[in-house]
Amino acid sequence: MPLVHPALLGLTTALPDVPGTSGLALPACAPGDAAAACGNAVTGNAVTGGAVTEDFGSGPVGLAQLLAGGSLAADVLRDEGEPLDLATLTELAGRLAATERLWRPVVRHHADKRWYTRLLLTGVVEVWLIGWSPGQHTAVHDHGGALGALAVADGVVEEDVHAPHGGSWEPRATRRHARGRVVGFGADHVHRVINRTAVAATTVHAYSPPEVPLRYANADGSVAVPAAAAAQLTTGLLAPTAQRRVAATAAR
Ligand SMILES: [Fe+2]
Repeated sequence: MPLVHPALLGLTTALPDVPGTSGLALPACAPGDAAAACGNAVTGNAVTGGAVTEDFGSGPVGLAQLLAGGSLAADVLRDEGEPLDLATLTELAGRLAATERLWRPVVRHHADKRWYTRLLLTGVVEVWLIGWSPGQHTAVHDHGGALGALAVADGVVEEDVHAPHGGSWEPRATRRHARGRVVGFGADHVHRVINRTAVAATTVHAYSPPEVPLRYANADGSVAVPAAAAAQLTTGLLAPTAQRRVAATAAR
């Protein structure tokens, strides 16, 4: 059964700002490292780009309204089945980011730590909302074979795209993603995301399959692979959701 943030049920109008927590109703989430992508493929990944164009007008907005039209609801609200494709991921992230009335009361920006909360978890996708204060960034990482999408709801983030080289990841290019930008990235995409501006940024991220452990670069540039994730990657098979959930706990 999907786990849905109250904001996606049209229930959230304002939430208390509790330092160090999301202040939300979902179970405690592990460190929500997240992703972005560029408008062009620089690492051989399938990468798409677009713009946030949706607007749901005034009044309460909920998940049903967000997913109305087409097959998006049926694609997203599944307990099992094939992962989503990039087009669906970017559409989902873009719709959420375009609905400012949804994320604005929820998002927080803390100077000492990147803020995040999970908006949605189903058997085929997870969606995160992330608040970036100036200077905050992820480590260099990939998404363990999952596809991803990033939509910039507010501000600007940059992405330092990396590529494999001799058993490590090396920087290749930097892409700038401003408000309204929606991008998707392929299964072998490697990057770090950073807010290099002087103002806060807010992003929405969608990943499919959900809860696949990230992989991080070590200090020497070599690639660290969590044991559970390594087994999945070696076999080329992704574990059932419940097993991935266990594997993801230590890595995110
Ligand atoms: Fe990422």
